[in-house]
Amino acid sequence: MENFTFYSPTFFAFGKDTENEAGEYVKRFGGTKVLIHYGGKSAKSSGLLDRVEASLTKEGIPFVSLGGVKPNPRSGLVYEGIELCKKEGVDFVLAVGGGSVIDSSKAIAAGVLYDGDFWDFYSGKPIEEALPVGTILTIAAAGSEGSPDSVITKEEGMFKRGASGNAIRPRFSILNPALTQTLPAYQSAAGITDIMAHLYERYLTNTKEVEVTDRLIEALLLTMKHEGPRVIADPNNYEARANIMWAGMMAHNNSCGVGRSQDWNSHNIEHEFSALYDCAHGAGLAVTMPAVFKYVMKHDVMRFAKVAVRVWGCQMDFDHPEVTALEGIEAFRSFLISIGMPKNFEELGTKEEDIPKLVEVLCRGDGRDGNIYGFVKLNEEDCANIYRMML
Ligand code: NZQ
Ligand code: ZN
Repeated sequence: MENFTFYSPTFFAFGKDTENEAGEYVKRFGGTKVLIHYGGKSAKSSGLLDRVEASLTKEGIPFVSLGGVKPNPRSGLVYEGIELCKKEGVDFVLAVGGGSVIDSSKAIAAGVLYDGDFWDFYSGKPIEEALPVGTILTIAAAGSEGSPDSVITKEEGMFKRGASGNAIRPRFSILNPALTQTLPAYQSAAGITDIMAHLYERYLTNTKEVEVTDRLIEALLLTMKHEGPRVIADPNNYEARANIMWAGMMAHNNSCGVGRSQDWNSHNIEHEFSALYDCAHGAGLAVTMPAVFKYVMKHDVMRFAKVAVRVWGCQMDFDHPEVTALEGIEAFRSFLISIGMPKNFEELGTKEEDIPKLVEVLCRGDGRDGNIYGFVKLNEEDCANIYRMML
């Protein structure tokens, strides 16, 4: 295991009706003037925003609101949010929504305290200072409610890039599984896929002897394998929603990723899809992961065979471990298709003729050196081959 530091200061309030405590938590974490940041219509139509506003008002906390965050959030609204916070003297950003809303909130929170262009953080500058952020999560997926990360798309060039820093870890996150019961099945499935991707990206490591995190990841993957289909079959299954919601947080606050190298090539390859075609991040990952895994499998075939046996119930073939490894990848792919995820480029809405453009932005965009680095280093030709495997 490698040396590591781990700082995860988020306060979690989990369970039914916990959104009504938002005002209390904002006060506890020092907010005196709040920006409520939200998305399209779901938080409004469900009455969630009204309840959150009532909770702030009950605590005597003034607020301003900024809605309109789109999935795969854009830089334009971030600039608007930064200006609004400066003008209104906001000292706390409250995200009401999914990963997109939370990421946009984190970007605003970092941008308000920074004199330069907030995009600097998405070009590699670590975030060291930010306004405090709180979240009320409405979809189990991105794990942004417990992570130090934010992913934004720059409209000029359509670069989708991430920024990171402990300063943007939420001070508190309110997780009420009942709020996720209104999700369309496709969004629930995309969320399940993203959570499993966060687990696989950590499982694919070059670090030896990391049994504790291997076992944690396997346990969470088994949980998703069990609970995912239950939520798709019955969207109102509170207990299954609850298990998925906490698994989503555990998958990405990095408690399963400490002390080990991680992959993230599937995420990098997918981000070009969701930037260019505006598809759901999880749906893009469903098509990306099996192709990437098959392409890099030989790098450590026993690792793929291990997850095949321990999670997907495959029989170990000691003479031909690559057969077991492949069976595990196919079992994962079948699982994703069974919950309603796309299986190829066409179903995702992507086009073969765009492959050169996807590769160019992926490997050269925003100052990259022609490679992406993870479990295996991939060059432009590798990435083009992987995109072609998804046809
Ligand atoms: O805008 P509204 O109307 O709320 O609709 C949203 C949106 O259309 C809808 N939705 C959310 N909660 C709902 C609901 N609809 C009905 N009922 C509810 N309770 O769902 C749609 C998707 O929402 P979004 O926030 O985009 O989903 P998600 O949480 O999957 O976030 C995706 C974004 O997170 C990034 C992705 O790249 C993508 O941009 N990621 C962020 C990470 C992080 N910060 O740590 C890590 C991830 O790997 C990921 O890259
Ligand atoms: Zn993800």
